Amino acid sequence: MLYLLLKIEGSSVKKIAVFASGRGSNFQAIYRHITRGELPAQIQCLITDNFRAGAIPFAEKHRIPVFVLSPKNFSSPEDFGQALLDVLARFQVEWIVLAGYLKKIPDNVVNAFPNRMVNIHPALLPAFGGKGMYGMNVHRAVYHSGAQVSGVTIHLVNQEYDAGPIVMQQAVDISGCRNPEEIAAKVLEVEHQLYPRALKRLFISPFTITGKRVEFHQLEEIGKAG
Ligand code: GRF
Repeated sequence: MLYLLLKIEGSSVKKIAVFASGRGSNFQAIYRHITRGELPAQIQCLITDNFRAGAIPFAEKHRIPVFVLSPKNFSSPEDFGQALLDVLARFQVEWIVLAGYLKKIPDNVVNAFPNRMVNIHPALLPAFGGKGMYGMNVHRAVYHSGAQVSGVTIHLVNQEYDAGPIVMQQAVDISGCRNPEEIAAKVLEVEHQLYPRALKRLFISPFTITGKRVEFHQLEEIGKAG
Protein backbone atom coordinates (compact mmCIF):
# COMPACT_ATOMS: atom_id res chain seq x y z
CA MET A 1 0.00 0.00 0.00
CA LEU A 2 2.78 2.36 1.01
CA TYR A 3 4.73 1.25 -2.06
CA LEU A 4 1.74 2.05 -4.25
CA LEU A 5 1.41 5.52 -2.76
CA LEU A 6 5.11 6.25 -3.24
CA LYS A 7 4.86 5.07 -6.81
CA ILE A 8 1.96 7.40 -7.51
CA GLU A 9 3.82 10.31 -5.87
CA GLY A 10 7.02 9.49 -7.75
CA SER A 11 5.45 9.16 -11.15
CA SER A 12 3.62 12.47 -10.82
CA VAL A 13 6.69 14.66 -10.32
CA LYS A 14 6.47 17.04 -13.26
CA LYS A 15 9.36 18.74 -14.96
CA ILE A 16 8.51 22.41 -15.27
CA ALA A 17 9.98 25.58 -16.74
CA VAL A 18 9.08 28.86 -15.07
CA PHE A 19 8.81 31.96 -17.25
CA ALA A 20 9.17 35.25 -15.34
CA SER A 21 9.93 38.81 -16.41
CA GLY A 22 10.13 40.70 -13.13
CA ARG A 23 10.36 40.45 -9.37
CA GLY A 24 9.78 36.69 -9.34
CA SER A 25 7.95 36.33 -6.02
CA ASN A 26 5.60 33.67 -7.46
CA PHE A 27 8.60 31.79 -8.84
CA GLN A 28 10.09 31.82 -5.33
CA ALA A 29 6.81 30.69 -3.75
CA ILE A 30 6.62 27.77 -6.18
CA TYR A 31 10.23 26.84 -5.48
CA ARG A 32 9.59 26.87 -1.72
CA HIS A 33 6.51 24.69 -2.01
CA ILE A 34 8.55 22.20 -4.02
CA THR A 35 11.42 22.09 -1.53
CA ARG A 36 8.94 21.63 1.35
CA GLY A 37 7.57 18.58 -0.46
CA GLU A 38 4.19 20.18 -1.06
CA LEU A 39 4.30 20.34 -4.84
CA PRO A 40 5.40 17.33 -6.92
CA ALA A 41 7.49 19.20 -9.45
CA GLN A 42 11.06 19.95 -10.40
CA ILE A 43 12.06 23.32 -11.85
CA GLN A 44 14.23 22.49 -14.85
CA CYS A 45 14.96 26.08 -15.85
CA LEU A 46 13.95 29.71 -15.57
CA ILE A 47 13.23 31.53 -18.81
CA THR A 48 13.11 35.30 -18.87
CA ASP A 49 13.19 38.13 -21.38
CA ASN A 50 14.74 40.56 -18.91
CA PHE A 51 18.30 40.29 -17.69
CA ARG A 52 17.36 42.52 -14.72
CA ALA A 53 14.58 40.18 -13.57
CA GLY A 54 14.62 39.64 -9.81
CA ALA A 55 13.99 35.96 -10.48
CA ILE A 56 17.51 35.54 -11.92
CA PRO A 57 19.62 35.90 -8.75
CA PHE A 58 17.22 33.63 -6.89
CA ALA A 59 17.50 30.98 -9.61
CA GLU A 60 21.29 31.24 -9.69
CA LYS A 61 21.50 30.92 -5.92
CA HIS A 62 19.47 27.72 -6.13
CA ARG A 63 21.36 26.36 -9.16
CA ILE A 64 18.43 26.56 -11.52
CA PRO A 65 19.60 27.12 -15.13
CA VAL A 66 18.59 30.56 -16.45
CA PHE A 67 17.94 31.54 -20.08
CA VAL A 68 17.49 35.16 -21.10
CA LEU A 69 15.72 35.19 -24.45
CA SER A 70 14.13 38.32 -25.83
CA PRO A 71 11.83 38.37 -28.87
CA LYS A 72 13.57 41.51 -30.11
CA ASN A 73 16.68 39.45 -30.83
CA PHE A 74 14.79 37.18 -33.25
CA SER A 75 13.55 37.96 -36.73
CA SER A 76 10.05 36.54 -36.16
CA PRO A 77 7.80 35.20 -33.38
CA GLU A 78 8.31 31.73 -34.91
CA ASP A 79 12.09 31.98 -34.56
CA PHE A 80 11.71 33.21 -31.00
CA GLY A 81 9.32 30.34 -30.31
CA GLN A 82 11.73 27.82 -31.82
CA ALA A 83 14.51 29.06 -29.55
CA LEU A 84 12.21 28.60 -26.54
CA LEU A 85 11.19 25.14 -27.77
CA ASP A 86 14.86 24.14 -28.10
CA VAL A 87 15.50 25.02 -24.45
CA LEU A 88 12.30 23.29 -23.33
CA ALA A 89 13.23 20.14 -25.25
CA ARG A 90 16.78 20.16 -23.93
CA PHE A 91 15.41 20.12 -20.36
CA GLN A 92 12.58 17.67 -21.14
CA VAL A 93 10.07 20.18 -19.84
CA GLU A 94 6.54 18.83 -19.45
CA TRP A 95 4.74 21.94 -18.16
CA ILE A 96 5.28 25.68 -18.66
CA VAL A 97 4.45 27.85 -15.66
CA LEU A 98 4.06 31.55 -16.42
CA ALA A 99 4.76 33.68 -13.36
CA GLY A 100 4.66 37.34 -14.28
CA TYR A 101 5.94 36.78 -17.83
CA LEU A 102 5.21 39.85 -19.93
CA LYS A 103 5.95 38.74 -23.48
CA LYS A 104 3.47 37.10 -25.82
CA ILE A 105 4.04 33.36 -26.02
CA PRO A 106 4.58 32.48 -29.72
CA ASP A 107 1.94 30.24 -31.29
CA ASN A 108 4.38 27.40 -31.94
CA VAL A 109 5.07 27.19 -28.20
CA VAL A 110 1.36 27.35 -27.26
CA ASN A 111 0.65 24.59 -29.78
CA ALA A 112 3.47 22.41 -28.45
CA PHE A 113 2.06 22.56 -24.89
CA PRO A 114 -1.70 22.06 -25.26
CA ASN A 115 -3.26 22.40 -21.78
CA ARG A 116 0.21 22.12 -20.28
CA MET A 117 0.87 25.83 -19.90
CA VAL A 118 -0.47 27.72 -16.87
CA ASN A 119 -0.74 31.40 -16.02
CA ILE A 120 -1.59 33.43 -12.94
CA HIS A 121 -3.69 36.57 -13.21
CA PRO A 122 -4.05 38.98 -10.26
CA ALA A 123 -7.84 39.48 -10.57
CA LEU A 124 -10.98 37.44 -11.06
CA LEU A 125 -11.18 36.64 -14.77
CA PRO A 126 -13.00 37.09 -17.07
CA ALA A 127 -13.19 40.60 -15.56
CA PHE A 128 -10.11 42.81 -15.67
CA GLY A 129 -8.23 40.69 -18.20
CA GLY A 130 -7.09 41.02 -21.80
CA LYS A 131 -4.45 43.01 -23.61
CA GLY A 132 -2.65 45.59 -21.46
CA MET A 133 -4.09 44.14 -18.28
CA TYR A 134 -1.00 43.16 -16.34
CA GLY A 135 0.72 44.20 -13.13
CA MET A 136 -0.47 47.42 -11.57
CA ASN A 137 -2.71 48.16 -14.57
CA VAL A 138 -5.00 45.42 -13.30
CA HIS A 139 -5.08 46.68 -9.72
CA ARG A 140 -5.65 50.29 -10.84
CA ALA A 141 -8.58 49.20 -13.02
CA VAL A 142 -10.06 47.18 -10.16
CA TYR A 143 -9.59 50.08 -7.73
CA HIS A 144 -11.21 52.64 -10.03
CA SER A 145 -14.10 50.30 -10.83
CA GLY A 146 -15.13 50.50 -7.21
CA ALA A 147 -15.22 46.70 -6.90
CA GLN A 148 -15.05 45.47 -3.33
CA VAL A 149 -13.82 42.03 -4.26
CA SER A 150 -10.82 41.13 -6.38
CA GLY A 151 -8.85 37.92 -6.38
CA VAL A 152 -6.55 35.51 -8.12
CA THR A 153 -7.14 33.34 -11.18
CA ILE A 154 -5.04 30.41 -12.29
CA HIS A 155 -5.83 29.40 -15.86
CA LEU A 156 -4.54 27.31 -18.72
CA VAL A 157 -3.08 29.23 -21.63
CA ASN A 158 -4.49 29.09 -25.13
CA GLN A 159 -4.29 31.42 -28.13
CA GLU A 160 -6.61 34.00 -26.58
CA TYR A 161 -5.23 36.46 -24.04
CA ASP A 162 -6.32 35.64 -20.44
CA ALA A 163 -9.15 33.48 -21.77
CA GLY A 164 -7.98 29.89 -21.25
CA PRO A 165 -9.92 27.46 -19.04
CA ILE A 166 -9.92 28.47 -15.36
CA VAL A 167 -8.23 26.01 -13.02
CA MET A 168 -8.74 27.73 -9.65
CA GLN A 169 -9.84 31.09 -8.31
CA GLN A 170 -9.86 32.74 -4.93
CA ALA A 171 -11.64 35.96 -4.04
CA VAL A 172 -9.97 38.65 -1.94
CA ASP A 173 -11.95 41.23 0.05
CA ILE A 174 -10.57 44.64 -0.94
CA SER A 175 -13.29 46.77 0.63
CA GLY A 176 -10.77 48.19 3.12
CA CYS A 177 -8.05 48.96 0.53
CA ARG A 178 -7.28 52.66 0.10
CA ASN A 179 -5.29 52.49 -3.14
CA PRO A 180 -4.21 50.07 -5.92
CA GLU A 181 -0.97 49.27 -4.08
CA GLU A 182 -2.87 47.96 -1.08
CA ILE A 183 -4.97 45.79 -3.38
CA ALA A 184 -1.81 44.46 -5.07
CA ALA A 185 -0.25 43.52 -1.72
CA LYS A 186 -3.36 41.75 -0.48
CA VAL A 187 -3.82 39.85 -3.73
CA LEU A 188 -0.13 38.87 -3.93
CA GLU A 189 -0.29 37.08 -0.57
CA VAL A 190 -3.07 34.89 -1.93
CA GLU A 191 -1.20 34.34 -5.23
CA HIS A 192 1.71 32.75 -3.38
CA GLN A 193 -0.59 30.14 -1.83
CA LEU A 194 -3.01 29.56 -4.68
CA TYR A 195 -0.53 29.03 -7.53
CA PRO A 196 1.28 26.08 -5.90
CA ARG A 197 -2.09 24.55 -4.91
CA ALA A 198 -3.48 24.84 -8.43
CA LEU A 199 -0.31 23.40 -9.94
CA LYS A 200 -0.45 20.49 -7.53
CA ARG A 201 -3.99 19.73 -8.56
CA LEU A 202 -3.09 19.90 -12.26
CA PHE A 203 -0.07 17.67 -11.80
CA ILE A 204 -1.78 15.05 -9.65
CA SER A 205 -5.32 14.76 -10.86
CA PRO A 206 -6.44 13.72 -14.32
CA PHE A 207 -8.76 16.34 -15.78
CA THR A 208 -10.97 16.93 -18.75
CA ILE A 209 -11.88 20.19 -20.42
CA THR A 210 -15.33 20.78 -21.83
CA GLY A 211 -15.61 24.17 -23.47
CA LYS A 212 -14.04 26.40 -20.88
CA ARG A 213 -14.75 24.20 -17.89
CA VAL A 214 -12.02 22.14 -16.28
CA GLU A 215 -13.19 19.05 -14.43
CA PHE A 216 -10.81 17.24 -12.10
CA HIS A 217 -11.41 13.52 -11.64
CA GLN A 218 -9.50 13.01 -8.44
CA LEU A 219 -10.93 15.23 -5.78
CA GLU A 220 -8.76 13.97 -2.91
CA GLU A 221 -5.22 15.32 -3.23
CA ILE A 222 -2.50 12.75 -2.54
CA GLY A 223 0.02 13.55 0.20
CA LYS A 224 0.27 16.78 2.13
CA ALA A 225 -2.23 19.53 1.44
CA GLY A 226 -0.65 22.37 -0.54
C1 GRF B 1 1.78 38.81 -10.23
O1 GRF B 1 0.89 39.72 -9.66
C2 GRF B 1 1.10 37.90 -11.21
O2 GRF B 1 -0.23 37.65 -10.88
C3 GRF B 1 1.15 38.70 -12.49
O3 GRF B 1 2.39 39.37 -12.45
C4 GRF B 1 2.81 39.53 -11.10
C5 GRF B 1 4.16 38.91 -11.00
O4 GRF B 1 4.72 39.08 -9.73
N1 GRF B 1 0.95 37.86 -13.64
P1 GRF B 1 6.04 38.30 -9.35
O5 GRF B 1 7.07 38.60 -10.42
O6 GRF B 1 5.71 36.84 -9.30
O7 GRF B 1 6.46 38.83 -8.01
